[in-house]
Amino acid sequence: MSSLQPFIVFEGIDGAGTTTQAKRLVDLFCRAGADALFTCEPTDLPTGALIRTILAGDDSVQPETLALLFAADRREHLYHPDRGVLATIRAGSTVVCDRYLFSSLAYQGVTTDPTLVELLNSQFPLPRHLVFIDTSLEESDRRMSSRPRRDRLEEESLQRRVASRYRQVIDRYQDRIAVHRIDGNQDEATVFADIVAALADDFPVLSR
Ligand code: TYD
Repeated sequence: MSSLQPFIVFEGIDGAGTTTQAKRLVDLFCRAGADALFTCEPTDLPTGALIRTILAGDDSVQPETLALLFAADRREHLYHPDRGVLATIRAGSTVVCDRYLFSSLAYQGVTTDPTLVELLNSQFPLPRHLVFIDTSLEESDRRMSSRPRRDRLEEESLQRRVASRYRQVIDRYQDRIAVHRIDGNQDEATVFADIVAALADDFPVLSR
């Protein structure tokens, strides 16, 4: 499967800072005069809203159901006629996405059959760039302790298994897309500087 340009995906365990860093990157693109859009998964489309309701609630669903819902939300996210990732790229914008199919491979890969998760995600286009913010469990836990409420996916032993699965998943993509593994234990500004340095070759506008 070929990769989509210009499509940049941020990944990392809960508390890694993917949202903050992805938004900073979009700001930098925009300040440099380039069109860039921040987007995320789960999305703010009806499919994503359903997932957030489930994650925040007390009733659980089958892990396979969650894997299916994330894949359904991803399909909507990609192919939505006006707000979809593909439509946005076609309109000339760079898309910066907080979480994508690698989240499913890492999270649902430990809660359900990884072969099913791979199958559900096998038809989606890959991004050109994957920024993996590699943060220790201790550091991500420290950052999340200031959040008002933890959802069910933010439990420690699960995070540990997800972290290990993430690294395996990321390694498998090294030869197909540009994978940037960033040390997420540094302060926010240093992490951001490392991200910009990693992307600057492909996006010269970032170093202006
Ligand atoms: P996110 O919105 O990044 O977390 P937060 O609301 O804390 O900013 O994602 C919500 C949760 O969904 C997070 O624990 C990761 C999980 N997730 C999956 O399990 N599979 C997926 O495919 C995606 C996109 C997210």
